[in-house]
Amino acid sequence: MSEKTIHYSGFGSAAVHGGHTKDPNSAHLVPIYASSTYVFDSAEQGMRRFSGKEDGYIYSRWGNPTSNEAEEKIAGLEGHGLNLPLRGIMHSSGMAAISTLMLATLKSGDKVLSHFSLYGGTEELINKVLPPLGIEPVIGDLRDLNLAEDLMKADPAIKMLYLETPANPTIQCVDLEELVKLGKKYNLIIACDNTFATPYLQQPFRFGVDFVVHSTTKFLNGHGTAIGGVLIGKDLELMNGHVTKIHRLLGGNSNPFDSFLLINGIKTLELRMERHCHNAVEVANFLDGHESVGHVNYNGLPSHPDHYLSVKQMRHPGAMLSFELKGGLQAGIAFMDKLNMCIRTVSLGTCDTLLSHPASMTHYSVPQEARLKYGITDGLIRMNVGIENITDILADLDQAL
Ligand SMILES: Cc1ncc(COP(=O)(O)O)c(C=O)c1O
Repeated sequence: MSEKTIHYSGFGSAAVHGGHTKDPNSAHLVPIYASSTYVFDSAEQGMRRFSGKEDGYIYSRWGNPTSNEAEEKIAGLEGHGLNLPLRGIMHSSGMAAISTLMLATLKSGDKVLSHFSLYGGTEELINKVLPPLGIEPVIGDLRDLNLAEDLMKADPAIKMLYLETPANPTIQCVDLEELVKLGKKYNLIIACDNTFATPYLQQPFRFGVDFVVHSTTKFLNGHGTAIGGVLIGKDLELMNGHVTKIHRLLGGNSNPFDSFLLINGIKTLELRMERHCHNAVEVANFLDGHESVGHVNYNGLPSHPDHYLSVKQMRHPGAMLSFELKGGLQAGIAFMDKLNMCIRTVSLGTCDTLLSHPASMTHYSVPQEARLKYGITDGLIRMNVGIENITDILADLDQAL
């Protein structure tokens, strides 16, 4: 029996074993299929494969056994406990997965409705790349459900509701249940970027979304060893047909080595997330009471405006937080320079604790006025709380503060 068909009652078991197909040479782990093409036994077989009459690999941009295991594993986790068959398609990056989603489902004259706080790359895709193709953005504060409905009602050209919750970099949440209800009322395609939460903390398909995307570069890989992305959908005919075709033609396929690293990373997802989350609560409480720190932005703190949403739709508020240093820009730079164990870098989702200072790094070239609109103040520090021992994380933060 293919292990793909086994039912795993536990999320951790599905993370370890899910998606695996028995290897013809009995290798325990899926091999890295470093082959661009696949051999046909006969011309007749080639014809059957190309005509779709026989399943099987043809060319690695179209499909690769190692990447296939990664996509089966992630789709199994997004649908875990939901009794909902899903299809995942691995991509070379999160941005490639989002691009396939947009280009496969939208056409000239359509509009995308989204919340103002989004990962910067997605925001630029929606605001700069899609408009010359005739696909326009509609951006609002989707935490305001009345406004969200007004926007949907006012403009029948809106075809997609694109959500990211919690959002990068502000960690704001939007209400999946209520927004999906509204999106369905107005016949919208509903997609959610689940990168910050992972399927362990949040399953957007539970609320009825049509698509989920991930930057697998982050918590799913978990070790910072590869860039990757995945697009998952529940309309299997659409996913296996049109979406697969667009994915193959755009050429944003993953490579087998990165998929191999991803598969091995996902095996420990549950364990890692438990530790990440436990440490994040400790860090948030420590920072919240510290004299050098002003505001702490963590959904797990009851004082956070989105706390109720993280309770409503997530297993746990997660491992991302940001905090404001009272001393502004200079305090931010001094703090970053004093870190010993914790790592000064962008990105997130690794075992290591990572900190970035947007005003001197990712948002250095953004004028202060524009930054402030998104809450990116001079002394703001963004933190991916890692899985090290909490005593070491707190000691490093304490000495740097
Ligand atoms: C929430 C979110 N979505 C998508 C992306 C894009 O992913 P990638 O860098 O793998 O293309 C990122 C990257 O940081 C992200 O944080």
